[in-house]
Amino acid sequence: MKKLKHLFDKNREWAERVRANDPDFFENLSHQQSPNYLWIGCADSRVPANEITGLMPGEMFVHRNVANLVIHTDLNCLSVIQFAVEVLEVKHIIVCGHYGCGGVLAAMENKKHGLIDNWLRHIQDVAQKHEAHLGEIRDASEKFQRLCELNVIEQVSNVCQTTVVENAWERGQELTIHGWIYGLHNGLLHDLNICVTSREDLRADYLTAIRGRASD
Ligand code: CO
Repeated sequence: MKKLKHLFDKNREWAERVRANDPDFFENLSHQQSPNYLWIGCADSRVPANEITGLMPGEMFVHRNVANLVIHTDLNCLSVIQFAVEVLEVKHIIVCGHYGCGGVLAAMENKKHGLIDNWLRHIQDVAQKHEAHLGEIRDASEKFQRLCELNVIEQVSNVCQTTVVENAWERGQELTIHGWIYGLHNGLLHDLNICVTSREDLRADYLTAIRGRASD
């Protein structure tokens, strides 16, 4: 007997629906993938990359971890970026955080959670870097939202400074790095006004984003 039978049932229904719309969909997709986008997002179950952007299988390469972090020694994330940029030649890398991120909240609260504290330490580094700015925000929930935004902006900066992205720009490869944030409460994406297309633009784009807020 199959375990989790309801998930297999739902899978069959889904595959049938897709085939009803395009009989060759899976056959065509099985030969190759050529996504234009790499999504680096939070592992949170409420932020499914393809669903919230309305993209089909084959259209977005996806990496998710707790609190959408891009760490310079994380071989998993760096390998995803390398494969996406050098083999798939994606045109866009989207770092997408979300308001109400449990990882960011855990980092803010400074309670002990075990192994994950080492991972969340990177968010505490972001908070420390922007201590003066965050200190000006009195309202705790607003401060939490702002740290969710700042975390995305810092991760965009990290993506831009990976050897993979620096080399791609050096070669003249067209590649844009974006910072977005998602609202769990209304299902909407917001642009954090950081959209980096070259190494030279990073500094100015970063400062603009840090000074600004999310826009529609
Ligand atoms: Co999260």
